[in-house]
Amino acid sequence: MSVTTLDPIDKLLEAALTGKSLIKNRTILHHTYVPNNIYHRDLEQEKVTQSLIPILKQFRPSNLLVYGKPGTGKTLVVRRILSKIQERVEKTNFPIKLVYANSKEETTLYGLLINFGRQLGLNEKELPPTGLSISEVFKRLLHTIDQGKQNTVFVIDEIDFLVHLVSKTGNDILYQLTRANDRLQNGTLTLVGISNDLTFKERLDPRVISSLGEEEVVFTNYSVDQIHKILEDRIQSAFIEGAVDKSALNLCAAMAGREHGDARRAIDLLRVAGEIAEREQQDKVTEEHIRLASQKMEEDKETIALQSYPLHEKLVILGVMKASGTSTGEIYTAYKDLCKTVRQKELTQRRVTQMLSEIELSGIISGRIVHQGIHGRTKKFKLTVSPETVKQTLKKDLTLEDII
Ligand SMILES: Nc1ncnc2c1ncn2[C@@H]1O[C@H](COP(=O)(O)OP(=O)(O)OP(=O)(O)O)[C@@H](O)[C@H]1O
Ligand SMILES: [Mg+2]
Repeated sequence: MSVTTLDPIDKLLEAALTGKSLIKNRTILHHTYVPNNIYHRDLEQEKVTQSLIPILKQFRPSNLLVYGKPGTGKTLVVRRILSKIQERVEKTNFPIKLVYANSKEETTLYGLLINFGRQLGLNEKELPPTGLSISEVFKRLLHTIDQGKQNTVFVIDEIDFLVHLVSKTGNDILYQLTRANDRLQNGTLTLVGISNDLTFKERLDPRVISSLGEEEVVFTNYSVDQIHKILEDRIQSAFIEGAVDKSALNLCAAMAGREHGDARRAIDLLRVAGEIAEREQQDKVTEEHIRLASQKMEEDKETIALQSYPLHEKLVILGVMKASGTSTGEIYTAYKDLCKTVRQKELTQRRVTQMLSEIELSGIISGRIVHQGIHGRTKKFKLTVSPETVKQTLKKDLTLEDII
């Protein structure tokens, strides 16, 4: 049977089995993979390690704030240091505990503290997964540290989410965490916060800043050359030899380096380009594949953002599409019409105006203040993504299926 007569499913399956594979180890291109070599981060590794060294000598390290733009290696470096310290701790009998949690992955503050509690060894009876007040959970954590005379380090990755999610309580609990030592008779608690939001400090209570930021380490953006080196290393272990064109590597480094020096984006770009090249059954990843990958990632980002909105936000976005470039009032009218068509009760203009500002933050629409003489000012909105993307994506919502 020749390949041309195969049905489309068989054709794909056949190609997958017999076809060329450019990537030899996919996990190496996944963002959770921990590489053996960390490049261009010696100084940062030294600073963070220095800051935590007292723990090995049974003293309390200062609280530490690590920040820098996304993809600059913060999580990688801190986790690597934690595991190296851990290795040494295990050879001693010192009561030292290093615990790590990411606040973006925890849906609540409660969850975050429970996570720390489990890592300190508290079971469900000692620390039930629901039902206690935050301050009670906190008290139990401190009690455990006190009883065990433990020296502990709590690492909160993406700490800005904590403040974002629960602004008031978030600040409060951070304050209490940074000052926990005042309440401990035995043992110590050091807080390490990691953030990629450089404005995050502005939203913090000044008392929290002064104690959390006892020490600070800033991770700068990678340059194009530095990204190049990081990519080269990954290519060597993840791809078969010669599978990535030099020019493709250069372009990938340039694109990611120029934008924000984000190593994660560079690696993602490389992975997606590799997948495209494989799907096309090419021998090599070329510049063209990198460009296609960048386009695809941009579209995927928009699609995911659009899909994740609740119904009324989607209706507002459709309203902006229908009344593009117009003022809030006109968009509201278009939105109301759409509500009628899909038999939904419309929300107030005030709420819709608020939604427009929220959607603007995601970059799917953009707003511009227009002065109208004696009529004051109004804000006009337009879509920044293609109407085609909006239609294709929102069509998947059953309620909207018929109006698109
Ligand atoms: N110096 C480096 N050497 C090798 N790989 C690196 C280096 N820096 C970053 N990476 C890789 O880039 C990706 C992003 O790094 P990491 O997750 O540490 O970034 P981050 O600073 O924590 O970003 P975010 O603020 O978005 O969480 C990871 O896959 C990591 O392995
Ligand atoms: Mg991180």
